[in-house]
Amino acid sequence: QELELKLEMLEKGGFDHFMLKEIYEQPRSIRDCMRGRIYPEEGKVQLGGIKEFVEKLKNIDRIIIVACGTSWHAGLVGEYLIEEYARIPVEVEYASEFRYRNPIITEKDVVIAISQSGETADTMAAIEMAKERGATIFGICNVAGASIPRLSHAGVYTHAGPEIGVASTKAFTAQVTVLTLMAFYMAQQKGTITQSKLIGLLTELDSIPDKIQIALESNDIIKEVAAKIKDSRNCLFLGRGSGFPVALEGALKLKEISYIHAEGYPAAEMKHGPIALIDEEMPVVFIATQNSSYEKVISNIQEVKARKGKVIAIVTKGDTEVKKMADYCIEIPDADEAFLPLLATIPLQLLSYHIAVMRGCNVDQPRNLAKSVTVE
Ligand code: G6P
Repeated sequence: QELELKLEMLEKGGFDHFMLKEIYEQPRSIRDCMRGRIYPEEGKVQLGGIKEFVEKLKNIDRIIIVACGTSWHAGLVGEYLIEEYARIPVEVEYASEFRYRNPIITEKDVVIAISQSGETADTMAAIEMAKERGATIFGICNVAGASIPRLSHAGVYTHAGPEIGVASTKAFTAQVTVLTLMAFYMAQQKGTITQSKLIGLLTELDSIPDKIQIALESNDIIKEVAAKIKDSRNCLFLGRGSGFPVALEGALKLKEISYIHAEGYPAAEMKHGPIALIDEEMPVVFIATQNSSYEKVISNIQEVKARKGKVIAIVTKGDTEVKKMADYCIEIPDADEAFLPLLATIPLQLLSYHIAVMRGCNVDQPRNLAKSVTVE
């Protein structure tokens, strides 16, 4: 038994849980995901998996993304990126809804299916239906040779390595990385981005693993924040723009592993409902980094403070404005808005992790959840 325990420790690389190990692996897993795919100096993105569909991609009218759970959140980030850079309209669908909705799909459509495991039943069924209607399917998967890559016409692997913790962490950031690469690739092919802008973005993308490393260094502060809010019954996560899917993912992580009821909301929608819930008992986590929606988020923070909510803010390093208002601030390095989801997700993963550990929950295998849902 002692041997078994030692083996397990070894597998976890010295970390207490697989989830924590996987969170800390992200600088490496994102580097692996980008390897051989970006050439910052030349301003070039290379995606072998979808190369033969380049002509099609240049002329499509829209992209439909289908996925479940955390992968669906990655899809929402992808929507922002693809629309912003490649100027192609994107719809993001829950695979389970899409498959039963008699959706309008033709041979002109490209469907991107995102799945860590590549075995999720609803996502597979959505692919099969879109395929029958003539769509071209791109898979974004982590597990090589799984069913979804085999069902797809083409695809891109995330190369995050095996993910053992049921709650997805490094697979999510790798999915977002692939979608970032796809957005840049399509933008380059379509000519919707200038070469100098692309060089700038790729150079910055290349430094994101180092910035994630820096974001991980806030672990001790995050642990302190976790101790303060661990007994809450509810928690709200708010963000705008691409910070909104980050908020959704932050809320999902917390409910998955700590069993605290959490909701992610677009910050501006707060006034249409969630604001009614805010009192001194309610922690509100804001994605409040310095980007195009910064000022708007600040006014949302003021609204929460006016109702005595407890504000935890993810801020850009060196921020002074939000610090004046928030109860707790967690810093992440400055980056172009395109990379905000990759960085802002990190502290939220750690926050959920520590809260769950403090509540005595089974972090790697939360109750009622499965790593891969292969039944409907
Ligand atoms: C399950 C897992 C989630 C995952 C979702 C989709 O619910 O617990 O972590 O996001 O399935 O899985 P997939 O493998 O398709 O990404």
